[in-house]
Order: sequence, then structure tokens, then C-alpha cells
Amino acid sequence: MTMPSAIDTITIRRPDDWHVHLRDGAMLAAVLPFTAAQFARAIIMPNLTPPITTIEAARAYRERILAALPPGANFQPLMTCYLTDHTDPDEIAQGYAEGVWVAAKLYPAGATTNAHHGVTDLANIGGVLARMERIGMHLLIHGESTDPEVDIFDRESVFIERTLIGLLRAHPGLRIVLEHITTEGAADFVRAHANQCAATITPHHLLINRTSLFQGGLRPHLYCLPVAKRERHRLALRRAATSGDACFFLGTDTAPHPAGAKEAACGCAGCFVAPTALACYAQVFDEENALANLEKFASLNGPAWYGLPPNEARVTLRRATSRQPAEIALGDERVVIFRGDEPLAWSLS
Ligand code: NCD
Ligand code: ZN
Repeated sequence: MTMPSAIDTITIRRPDDWHVHLRDGAMLAAVLPFTAAQFARAIIMPNLTPPITTIEAARAYRERILAALPPGANFQPLMTCYLTDHTDPDEIAQGYAEGVWVAAKLYPAGATTNAHHGVTDLANIGGVLARMERIGMHLLIHGESTDPEVDIFDRESVFIERTLIGLLRAHPGLRIVLEHITTEGAADFVRAHANQCAATITPHHLLINRTSLFQGGLRPHLYCLPVAKRERHRLALRRAATSGDACFFLGTDTAPHPAGAKEAACGCAGCFVAPTALACYAQVFDEENALANLEKFASLNGPAWYGLPPNEARVTLRRATSRQPAEIALGDERVVIFRGDEPLAWSLS
């Protein structure tokens, strides 16, 4: 980590968040304002219960998101389709042609929260992938091996070796986003295949390593998937995010859960990072003396990858201490905020 730079304010095009879990119902209403306040557009993950697998379900979910927006908010949800073993290539292509969804999400079955309806074998979606390749529709991947024999800290690298390399070869025209990368190997792989592959990087994977999960005791609110890795991987992710390289862009993977579901004998995976996301990213870029590249990562590389125009509006971030609450209320429950109740060096004005 280098010394923070002398820059005290930075104005960039309004950012987008290319990986968001907004959930539904009361949770959606509680968390959406944080994302909409910072980001103009977001790719909405489809892992609801039941998952968003049809055009009709995606349309209805999009309407629920728009209805939950605070008055005056300027925010566009970009929907995705959850792939299963039974996904119909025609449904995928029709939803894409109608502009209902912009991408499809591949969860290897059981890889993460609400992934049990995911794909058990890529062979089952060969026709879907071929169609997506033909029509130019993007594939977003939760890149972790689900082989129970594989150590949890190796699941991303094993997925790349055993699955992703073959997938790129089998579908050379398919555009792939490897979501929330956590390893040096993944960053290197994406860089080496940048014509076909891009990656999102979360704020938390830039700030914590696997030791943070056990700092002074078990920290359930830092547990997400893919799980944070060793320090050398965190440093490699920092280099990737702050490089300005077109293949890396912002995706918070904000994944809220009621505190009770995380502070449990078998706590679930996901960090609620939306409220502090932009401040966290700015801090990282500042510490890496790379504020000049923040706009590329947050506001330019993502739209360019998806073939969308960058946002015209500008936002200004200031070096001024801010603080979010420790948690938000959700009925009788609460949702704990990543880096909540801690001083943040940067604020959005
Ligand atoms: C996500 C969730 O809770 O939906 N959890 C997580 O740890 N990131 C699912 C996911 O993106 O893996
Ligand atoms: Zn996610």
C-alpha cells in the first residue's frame, strides 16, 4: 500500500454497478435506495427464490424494482436470466431480442446462495451457449468449482482450469464476465483473454483477505462467496482494478442477508456492501495512487464492455470523513453494513 495522494476531490462520470443482489419485497425496498443513490445502472442478479428463469418473471421483477425506487431516483435495472439445466435457447434469445434481459447468469449448481437450481453440467446448456454466442448475448459466471473434494480456497482456480478454459475454446465468440474475481490467477487469466473475457471486482475483496474472516474471532459479516483469499491475491486484485485495463470493472456483489441468517451455526454467504461501496473503492484507488483510473473502472470500462454509452451525469467524491450506520432495520431483523459505523475517508457529495 502506498501513501494516499494529495488529490482531495475527484469528479467522474456517474458509475454503474455491474453485479448487484437487490432481493425482493421488504429487503428490496430497504436496500435499493443505497444502490440507486450511487449508481445509474446495475446488473441485477436473478438468484431469487424461485430464480428468475423466464421473460415473464424478469419483466415482473424489473417492475417491482422500479416501483420500489425512491421518488426522483435515476436508476436503470439491467436484468439477467438464471440458467438451469432446462433453459430453452428460444426463451433466452426472445428475452434478449425484446430487451428484457441483457445477459444470462451461470451458477454451477450449489456454488453459492440460491444456486441449487443452477447448471449441473455445462453439457446441458450447450444449445443455450451456442445461441448466446450467435446473438452476442453475454454470459456472467459465478466461477467456482462445486466438486466437494476441492478446497474452498481453490474453487475459483479449479473452475478456471477445469471449466472456463474449455468453455472459451468451445464458444470462441461468447463474451464472458467472470464475476467477483478473488485470485491473482483469475486476474491474470482475464487479462490474457481480454478479447473474450472481463471481470468484476468487489470493494470487499480489495479490502479484506482471508485472515480478516478470523480477526479476533469469527466474522460472519465478512463471509461471502467466493471467499476472500490470501493477502497476495488481494494485492493482485488491487493492481488489476486500479490498472485502468478495460477488462476490469466495478461490480459490488452487494448481497444483503438478515443478520440472523449470517450470525448462525451455518451462516450464509454475502456482504451488504452497497451503502459504503463507492467510498470503499475511492479509498482503495487513493491508497494505490490511482484515482486517475477510478473513472475507467467505475464508469467507462463496464459500459464499453456491454456496448452501452457511458453516463453523461457527473459525480464528485471528496476526501471528507463520512460514516454509514452499522446496520439498517428490516422489520424485526437487521442487515449489517460492510464497513458500517467506521470512518470512511471519502464521501460522495
Ligand atoms: C450471493 C448472494 O447472497 O446472493 N452471495 C455471495 O456470497 N456473494 C451470491 C453470489 O454472488 O455468490
Ligand atoms: Zn453475487
